[in-house]
Amino acid sequence: MSEVLIKRNTPIEEERQGEVLEIDIQPIQAPGAKSFYIESYGCQMNFNDSEIVAAILFDNGYRLTNDFSEADLIFLNTCAVRDKAEQTIRKRLSDFNKIKSIKPDILVGLLGCMAERLKKTLLEDEKVVDIIVGPDAYRTLPRLINEAETGQKAINVILSREETYADIQPVRLDKNGISAFISIMRGCDNMCSFCVVPFTRGRERSRNPLSILEEAKLLLDKNYKEVTLLGQNVDSYKWKDDATGEEVNFAQLLEKVALLNPMLRIRFSTSHPKDITDEVLYTMAKYNNICNYIHLPVQSGSSSVLNRMNRTYDREWYLDRVEAIKRILPDCGISSDMIAGFCGETDEEHNETLSLMDKVKFDMSYMFYYSERPGTLAARKYTDDVPLEVKKARLQEIINLQSQHSLENNQSDIGKEHIVLVEKRSKRNEAEYCGRNDQNKMIVFPMENYKPGDYVKVLVEQVTAATLIGKVIEKINQL
Ligand code: SAM
Ligand code: SF4
Ligand code: F3S
Repeated sequence: MSEVLIKRNTPIEEERQGEVLEIDIQPIQAPGAKSFYIESYGCQMNFNDSEIVAAILFDNGYRLTNDFSEADLIFLNTCAVRDKAEQTIRKRLSDFNKIKSIKPDILVGLLGCMAERLKKTLLEDEKVVDIIVGPDAYRTLPRLINEAETGQKAINVILSREETYADIQPVRLDKNGISAFISIMRGCDNMCSFCVVPFTRGRERSRNPLSILEEAKLLLDKNYKEVTLLGQNVDSYKWKDDATGEEVNFAQLLEKVALLNPMLRIRFSTSHPKDITDEVLYTMAKYNNICNYIHLPVQSGSSSVLNRMNRTYDREWYLDRVEAIKRILPDCGISSDMIAGFCGETDEEHNETLSLMDKVKFDMSYMFYYSERPGTLAARKYTDDVPLEVKKARLQEIINLQSQHSLENNQSDIGKEHIVLVEKRSKRNEAEYCGRNDQNKMIVFPMENYKPGDYVKVLVEQVTAATLIGKVIEKINQL
């Protein structure tokens, strides 16, 4: 087995920027098959999309390579959520430009959200790009490659109201073979004023639950131990079976997946504060294998900023949802996303974000300063008037406060036992394993006689703001 390197550079994982995951290559296709190389940027859904792209290309006789200099096709699966994300892609394209000047036959394809946002201007501005494919058009990739091979500029950025790739079994690009993503829906119907996603991913559509369960069963057959159900707003998942009239909401879907096997851990992301229901929380409470962890991005602690952001909830509503989580799921981990320096944000409004953080005490947050995205509601309606240095200073205050809360929360875990799914060797110490507990906290512990995929009970002895450190008490056979 050879390997490929994939960059995971997601907002959800932004802390770990630059992390390069080694992933297994799938069985080599027919001798002489053309090879493709793929790098993924952006969110977990984009990473999962690369797995769908890999499946489509495998089906069409291409093989995967980890070395872009020997690839016939180079793909960047891109993100457009902030300007910085797009700048990273442009830099990467200039690297590929150099290779193309030596090997002009190589084709470079841009996939994903930046491809969708910029459409054909990329073919004109970035001479290096031969193929442009938006998130809903991956099935046409083989045809577009053929077109590009004959010298045509190949582009398909048509968004769909139906496409969910439900029938495509993603080729798992993550090497660990223990946890996998399952996209349960695509697109987004919210119109948060700062956000480009509705424009790059199109309308929200949910995937047939039978195909979701089928995918989870296949993963179980391959010995996977954890699935993460993905959507921009999982709480608005809704499926209606035309034949039977049966309706399935997110809580019901969660239950169906949980019932597949009590040893399959279930996570999900992202929850939207306006849509998360008590029914979801009670379903989480009912099944031990649904992890007690909710990513519930607040974005701002100020009701007036939330109103300008068009988040459709206010501070009180958010705090009420947190109260419900703490009541129904007392030991639930909660994380958030935060944007500093949105249009018109005053010092007082910024301080309300800090005070909300003090009330909730998130376990973890992904924190950004506002980056105006062309075409969004905010770009059209408001002035991006908070100076960059003020945005950066406010972001730093938010980061400092979050570090303090993370450390305090982790300190309260000292002396407690946690069930951990062993994932992989720790990067810092070859003699240690790491894995996450129910609340999604990373725990490091000596290797001993355990292996990735085992569930173990770990006693936490020390902590940092980012990690718990402990020792294994026993192996667990029941969650
Ligand atoms: N659907 C998720 C939700 O509603 O919370 C979020 C998806 S978005 C891809 C991930 C995060 O990026 C957002 O929660 C927000 O904090 C951040 N983000 C989105 N647009 C941004 C912008 N223009 N500037 C800065 N951060 C942004
Ligand atoms: Fe963007 Fe809002 Fe949709 Fe999340 S819910 S993807 S922030 S528009
Ligand atoms: Fe994801 Fe970035 Fe697109 S966060 S949905 S890849 S804009």
